[in-house]
Amino acid sequence: MVIEETVGFSPQMFEVFMIPWKLIDRAQVPGHGGEMCLYQRGGEFTIRLAAGELMNSRAHGSEDALAELACARIADRPCPRVLIGGLGMGYTTAAALRRLRADAQVLVSELVPAVVKWNRGPLGEFAGHPLQDARVTVCEADVALVLQAEQRAYDAILLDVDNGPEGFSRKGNDWLYARAGLAAAFAALRPAGVLAVWSAGPDRAFTKRLHQVGFTVNEVRVRARASNKGGRHTIWLAVRGS
Ligand SMILES: C[S@@+](CC[C@H](N)C(=O)[O-])C[C@H]1O[C@@H](n2cnc3c(N)ncnc32)[C@H](O)[C@@H]1O
Repeated sequence: MVIEETVGFSPQMFEVFMIPWKLIDRAQVPGHGGEMCLYQRGGEFTIRLAAGELMNSRAHGSEDALAELACARIADRPCPRVLIGGLGMGYTTAAALRRLRADAQVLVSELVPAVVKWNRGPLGEFAGHPLQDARVTVCEADVALVLQAEQRAYDAILLDVDNGPEGFSRKGNDWLYARAGLAAAFAALRPAGVLAVWSAGPDRAFTKRLHQVGFTVNEVRVRARASNKGGRHTIWLAVRGS
């Protein structure tokens, strides 16, 4: 997800902005989500929906932080299981793999099959080809369905499928952030497991819903860029009791 501050442009960045975006591929988002397009400009890629940009290869500090903050809490557990929804450009998945043990299992749920294809192709190098890691299994499905398939199954669930806690990729994602979806995430977590949710900004009603479902909630503000620059994004770390 990229919500960027327009400050600190270098002359080299202006040169890059002169290059026109080239459409590489397009795909339909299942469940009436409209069209998703992959564009390239020089060495930069972006995934766009009709509503706006979903992910850009330039800034991924907060996508990394989503995984780092959540996985730090469960990294010492034996055979940790982590569910990640969705794949995007693979940064969150790669950051989780860096933080997790060799016996971890990471299930990546991605709604749009083309996104998986792009990660096995031109996008793979950005995050260091995380899908080639033996700990990773990819499930081309709605994370809402994956969540409900098993109970007490995951040590961590990492959600970055929209711009924040409301459907951006498609309206149907609203369920994930409503009480029913949060209760399903709670049930899918093992005791003391953590649900981590990425957002472009704070949302007090969402924080309240997390509490209502029974989570202990910590809201963290992180920078968009790993260099401690860029806008500030929000990550909720919601922990299920033991
Ligand atoms: C913002 S990107 C994720 C960025 C990712 N954190 C990264 O590090 O690159 C959102 C991704 O979620 C996927 N997605 C949207 N709705 C989904 C759903 N219900 N289930 C699974 N994946 C979904 C989109 O297709 C897209 O690949």
